[in-house]
Amino acid sequence: MKDIKRMILLNPGPATTTNSVKLAQVVPDICPREPEFGQLMENISTELTRFVANPGHYTTVLFGGSGTAAVESMISSIADHNKMVIINNGAYGKRMCEIAKTYGLNYSEFTSSPCDAIDLDALERFIKASGQTFSHLAVVHHETTTGLLNDIRAIGELCKRYRIDMIVDAMSSFAAIPIDMEKINISFLASSSNKNLQGMAGVSFVIAEKNKLERLKHRKARNYYLNLYAQYRFFSMNRQFRFTPPVQTLYALSQAIEELKQEGINNRYKRYAKCWKTLVAGIARLGLTYVVPESCHSKLVTAIVEPDHAQYNFQEMHDYFYARGITIYPGKLDQLNTFRIANIGDITCKDIERFLELLGSYLRGIGESQRKVGS
Ligand SMILES: Cc1ncc(COP(=O)(O)O)c(C=O)c1O
Repeated sequence: MKDIKRMILLNPGPATTTNSVKLAQVVPDICPREPEFGQLMENISTELTRFVANPGHYTTVLFGGSGTAAVESMISSIADHNKMVIINNGAYGKRMCEIAKTYGLNYSEFTSSPCDAIDLDALERFIKASGQTFSHLAVVHHETTTGLLNDIRAIGELCKRYRIDMIVDAMSSFAAIPIDMEKINISFLASSSNKNLQGMAGVSFVIAEKNKLERLKHRKARNYYLNLYAQYRFFSMNRQFRFTPPVQTLYALSQAIEELKQEGINNRYKRYAKCWKTLVAGIARLGLTYVVPESCHSKLVTAIVEPDHAQYNFQEMHDYFYARGITIYPGKLDQLNTFRIANIGDITCKDIERFLELLGSYLRGIGESQRKVGS
């Protein structure tokens, strides 16, 4: 086996993985309809559930597809004739609205700043003022656009008071930020294999209360491949995907789950948060700022304001880093020019220090922040 070059991915997933996760994909060929493979998928499903809920009452429905597949499955399968509120405070909240629109669902959009905490009183007024009973509320836990962490605990309480089922896109928080679905009152949650789980891209999943999944039984299907109830039902009857699963990616996911169990979600978050502290202290020394206040920051992804300098060019900066083994990511905010750094994956503070060292060199190279960096 030749050495695998280690790349430091500071994009918000797919994240840097361990060699053991990469190598877990190299297995004898197997037909995914074999019981042995069914057992592997069942274990994956149970362990994923266990990270956030009691597998007695909740279950994980796996899909082959990127994270958007799980979000689309959730939104399109769960919505009924009642209205859904979708909180849009970033690109991924907006994407949920686009999904709802594509399916012609009955929904209302609650917009909020991508850089600041949601005004919960305003959200409550919005719910009250609509004059309609909302059946569901969909929110992104961690808006990867800016690093904004939405307070799903408080939103969950609001949903409980108004008897609304909460749907959470936890794509970039799952496996880093501890979540207790029952305590927070989350009925459905979506995530994927390749962010804080530190697995390979290609598997996404919906974790749901079993009794709420069962209630979807008589719902007229809006789609085929992404039908949440059909995927749940088929797997629980046969321990198989309805259609071909990403076999090798699932072996890698199984290994990634073992590694998460060994590290523990709390420790993983501590490691990530330590990387973040190193990152923000370093960018401050270089005279750069970031957009979300610490009080509502995930400490996982940071949108950094781009240097205001004639010589600055994101693509050139990206290429400078890429040639040195580090991948950085463009921003996604309309209002402000930012680039993004994610401190997730199999990385340590040393990797962030290396990034900062190179950032200093790059900025010196274009003549930016000479005063602050030069000494
Ligand atoms: C919060 C959130 N939701 C959804 C997605 C979409 O996931 P994917 O790109 O895997 O389809 C992402 C991807 O970054 C995300 O961060």
